[in-house]
Amino acid sequence: MHITEAMALELSSRIPGMMPEADLRFLFQYAQKMLTNSTWIEVGTWKGRSLAAVVLGLPARTTVLAVDTWLGTEDEIEGTPFAEAVGSDKPFEAFQKVARGLHFLRPEIRIGSLRSYSGTVARVLGRDEPHTADVIFLDGDHSYEAVIEDIRLWTPVLKLGGTLMGHDRQLPGVARALKDLEFSFHEGGECIWYVEDYNP
Ligand SMILES: C[S@@+](CC[C@H](N)C(=O)[O-])C[C@H]1O[C@@H](n2cnc3c(N)ncnc32)[C@H](O)[C@@H]1O
Repeated sequence: MHITEAMALELSSRIPGMMPEADLRFLFQYAQKMLTNSTWIEVGTWKGRSLAAVVLGLPARTTVLAVDTWLGTEDEIEGTPFAEAVGSDKPFEAFQKVARGLHFLRPEIRIGSLRSYSGTVARVLGRDEPHTADVIFLDGDHSYEAVIEDIRLWTPVLKLGGTLMGHDRQLPGVARALKDLEFSFHEGGECIWYVEDYNP
């Protein structure tokens, strides 16, 4: 099915989450530029809002992998939508429903999910399937330590020359991590940072 940008924004915006529409548009457009056989990994998916924009934009015969605990982000539970995950599997069930809907709309895209900690998955993939991802989008834990650790651990999974991308560049932990790593990054949408042709 051909999905227009307007349809993609309408569909992804309906999924609960905090990603602004400008960022959904950026992700959709970036995904459209990927080549056949590309792999896009998203770390931090929650109910699938950003993932939907990506899946709806990707060309056929590409792969998307969602990595999340679906437990919310440590230190960000109280008073946030993540409180829903305490003692309940509702966020994961909501994601699964969204993933089924996306599969229905885009059966030619392989959508996978791994329910585990970011660092755990990155270590395993870095060892067993190094340099396989074309894009890694980091939107999990936004604390300074977690961002530094995510970038360190996910780098071996990224293809040489791939795109390292993340969300919430305005948050203090993310901004400080990008500064300390001396990243010269591009800005996308409202809150996205990305480094293309990443060769650490
Ligand atoms: C900001 S939300 C992601 C929002 C999502 N991209 C969207 O568009 O709605 C952060 C997500 O990261 C997950 N998360 C936080 N820390 C994590 C970790 N260490 N490992 C895996 N997932 C984590 C949380 O469960 C939560 O679903």
